[in-house]
Amino acid sequence: MNKEEAYEKLKKYGQLHVLKYYDELTEEEKAALLKQIEETDLEVVSQCSKKEQLNQKGKISPLSAMQLPEIEAKKEEFMAVGTKAIKEGKVGAVLLAGGMGTRLGSDAPKGVYDIGLTKEVFIFQRLIENLMDVVRLTDTWIHLFVMTSDKNHEATVSFFKEKNYFGYRPEYITFFMQEMAPATDYNGKIFMEAKHKMATSPNGNGGWFSSMMKWGVVDKIHEAGIEWLNVFAVDNVLQRIADPCFVGATIQTDSDVGSKVVCKNAPDEKIGVICLEDGRPSIVEYYELTEELMNAKDENGAPAYSFGVILNYLFREKALEDIVSKNLPLHIVEKKIPYLDEKGELIKPEEPNGYKYEQLVLDMIHELNSCLPYEVERNYEFAPIKNKTGIDSVESARALCKENGIEL
Ligand code: UTP
Repeated sequence: MNKEEAYEKLKKYGQLHVLKYYDELTEEEKAALLKQIEETDLEVVSQCSKKEQLNQKGKISPLSAMQLPEIEAKKEEFMAVGTKAIKEGKVGAVLLAGGMGTRLGSDAPKGVYDIGLTKEVFIFQRLIENLMDVVRLTDTWIHLFVMTSDKNHEATVSFFKEKNYFGYRPEYITFFMQEMAPATDYNGKIFMEAKHKMATSPNGNGGWFSSMMKWGVVDKIHEAGIEWLNVFAVDNVLQRIADPCFVGATIQTDSDVGSKVVCKNAPDEKIGVICLEDGRPSIVEYYELTEELMNAKDENGAPAYSFGVILNYLFREKALEDIVSKNLPLHIVEKKIPYLDEKGELIKPEEPNGYKYEQLVLDMIHELNSCLPYEVERNYEFAPIKNKTGIDSVESARALCKENGIEL
């Protein structure tokens, strides 16, 4: 793309300020900026003006979860089915680690955060230790696919290498990168993070499967004969990965996806709830949950929307291939975005100052025909680290690790 073409493209979307410093750039920088303009989808940021009309929900109704007593009663059967699938190499795991973890306030990848007190215990290490439990139990190495982004790929890959993959076999770990999207101010104007670079943010955790396709990782999945992918977030340090009982339950119920859920600790807990939307499985984010839904009761008088998702899903791989070409909804999310100010100096804001544009893994559920919400005990399996202190923080996760006998 040459400068004139870049100008036309930016003009169409009201983003001409991106060329503000063009004339003072080196030839190399000019080429880099033109390439970025060419490759960036500006249609996405143009959605900012219609923000309120995006993602209108359909008719919401309850979807019942498989609860702990039922799981306990069928445990033997589920364990047998799940263990068999794992032993046959049909289960892979996908670690979503492309996020910026801005709430935690560190520039490093979230997984390199050390939550140890008397020794080093990195978040990545906790996750590998949990996966190793299943490797030992089934005597089978499980393929682990790690999604990173342009912002943390090198740091993540070199950290794993430096730590000798925490004892995991490196040939069973594959890294791949997700796509980026421009980040804007509240008026939809793209921020610059350098004079020759538009500010970008990872485009959400919803693009993981299409990125796997782009990177050729799906070919590896086919070669390995993997039929189920357990996708999970980096920040839950009690995460059970490739849990044979969960795998068995999802397979036995012939579901396209299984979703681990926990019983909410309060009607207004900040966690997405599992439900039906226009008769199909779906998730309503906490900020979309109306007062009416929050207090709705089912036919037995129990809260109708009391199971929240913890970002641990088991997807039937074939079903993902069928939906990969569908466009997931766009979410416009407030974030802290470093930017160049009027004087061309880089500012790192303390408070949210604009939007990033994301697609979310939870929206994939609605595309699938069947979903098994599978209850887990929150104190055993849910210790997310989102914030520095308070709710869902390093402190709360440490307390939960202690409760579960994990030495820190
Ligand atoms: P969060 O929703 O907590 O987002 O991610 P985040 O970007 O990491 O954190 P904040 O909001 O800036 O503090 C949930 C999971 O999805 C992954 C994260 O790494 C985490 O495992 N994720 C998020 C991605 O892989 N890519 C993204 O673009 C966003």
